[in-house]
Amino acid sequence: MKHIYPIFDQLLGKNEKERLLKQRGKVIWLIGLSGSGKSTLAKALERRLYTAGFASQLLDGDNLRHGLNADLGFTDQDRAENLRRTAQVARLFKESGIVTICSFITPTENTRQTVRDIIGAEDYLEVYVDCPLDMCEQRDVKGLYKKARAGEIKDFTGISAPFEPPLSPDISIQTALLPLDDSAEQLFQFVLQKITYTNS
Ligand code: ADX
Repeated sequence: MKHIYPIFDQLLGKNEKERLLKQRGKVIWLIGLSGSGKSTLAKALERRLYTAGFASQLLDGDNLRHGLNADLGFTDQDRAENLRRTAQVARLFKESGIVTICSFITPTENTRQTVRDIIGAEDYLEVYVDCPLDMCEQRDVKGLYKKARAGEIKDFTGISAPFEPPLSPDISIQTALLPLDDSAEQLFQFVLQKITYTNS
């Protein structure tokens, strides 16, 4: 890029910030269909982290699409841009030592690879919020599946746009089989191991 002189090397490092906060900065990236329980699980995880004394930030698809990503829709290209921007924001938070929870459909392996590359594989924890499509559609909390079936919403994930189940998530949570409390606890215990600060 022309006339741009980044100063990354002069910034206070991630390690120093982690030492201050006594936690590791990681990105917990929740993937799943609309209605699979991502946001609910993300909120429950954040609450548990807070109670246990960890500083966190939750980035949610529906929320970011109101602000930073308000100019984007649901074409493949717009989703890719939505996720690219979000991953860049998540990276800034985790570089500050914050436990960053992201809740986005992230429908394809291709977009997940982009996210992983931006964040850095060592700090990216992929969580598959696994709930069968027919269950999401049955619940239809926002009434969007009904509209998608009626053709009122186009490019709807799982109906008229692709969703590839993640090939190699770090953890899968089966929200259709477990009560929320159990799902949240399972995820919390997994995250806890990754963010606990040791001096090494
Ligand atoms: S992503 O594909 O780019 O990762 P994101 O998680 O930001 O999607 O947004 C998904 C949310 O947008 C859904 O939970 C739903 O509420 C809403 N939404 C609106 N239109 C669509 C659509 N065509 N496909 C999927 N979700 C949609």
